[in-house]
Amino acid sequence: RSQNLLRLSQLQENMISGTHRTHSVRNYKVSVVGAAGGIGQPLSLLLKQNPLIKELSLHDRTNVKGVNMDLSHICTATKVESFQGEDPASLVDALHDSNIVVVPAGMPRKPDMTRDQLLGANGEVAISVSRAMCAACPKALVAYITNPLNTVVPIAAETMKSLGCYDPKRMFGVTTLDIVRARTFLAQRLKLDPAEVNIPVIGGHAGITILPLLSLCSPKLCATPDEWKALTHRIQEAGTEVVKAKAGGGSATLSMAYAAAHFVNSLLRGLKGESGVVECSYVASDVTEAAFFSTPLELGPEGIKKNLGLPKMSDDEKEQLKKMIPELKTSIAAGIDFAQEAI
Ligand code: LMR
Repeated sequence: RSQNLLRLSQLQENMISGTHRTHSVRNYKVSVVGAAGGIGQPLSLLLKQNPLIKELSLHDRTNVKGVNMDLSHICTATKVESFQGEDPASLVDALHDSNIVVVPAGMPRKPDMTRDQLLGANGEVAISVSRAMCAACPKALVAYITNPLNTVVPIAAETMKSLGCYDPKRMFGVTTLDIVRARTFLAQRLKLDPAEVNIPVIGGHAGITILPLLSLCSPKLCATPDEWKALTHRIQEAGTEVVKAKAGGGSATLSMAYAAAHFVNSLLRGLKGESGVVECSYVASDVTEAAFFSTPLELGPEGIKKNLGLPKMSDDEKEQLKKMIPELKTSIAAGIDFAQEAI
């Protein structure tokens, strides 16, 4: 009976973390920067259940000790520790020897704000995380969630470059929530379980830079051009839908935590050498004219194993791609300027 119970609890753990196809080697240290925040807490809860994580290190400027105490009572073998403070040293201590650093830190949007308007409040996050990583874990993979994502990732790249520890294969902007949303909305339209729906979403993570490739939806989507347009628009503006519904209480936290936990799990599967792990993510790229761009990537022990490039697109999607490039380039240039002024 106890064997059966053990198997059942392992199965539940795997279902929650989505690792049912992996062999559990609890071997990795994952750090969460901004762990006491709206995304950080549910994300840490999900990561505490990931059977590949040996050590979960939580950092925040305040309130993280209680989060640590709370999580540490959960009966999984992942060890949790926390580091609190505004000083750079506490962040360096938290990140020491991490395999993955995931960064939800920063302010959320209020209704009527664009993600770009968060640059002043959140740009500094990418600079302090980059500095701490260069000192504490220069070989770690880093996954940014902080908005404006299209600008934050270039800031981090520029900062790490200036410190001589930049490896573009190891730096990611998490765009998984766009895919999670696309699968959900398409599954509703197709009357299917979202688990059966697949679709790549390329570009960036704001408005028209989010390009769901509906022509590649599997199973195939048969819809009128108007429906097609409405679905694309809903996926592009889904973050704003949540910001409006929360009416001043912030932006997506739970769905973002779910998406980021899934993405971190894929990074872990790549790290441990599993083959065929593919995720879309916003990374340094030469696939288009924009120096950062999200396309499907094969993940491996060094981060990006192979950029799988632009999928085959419809003519309409090619037009949408053309339209987003100037916006992405502007966001990237703003990031490079921000970093050069700050460092
Ligand atoms: C999202 O897509 O939900 C996040 O980027 C948060 C936001 O401001 O929309």
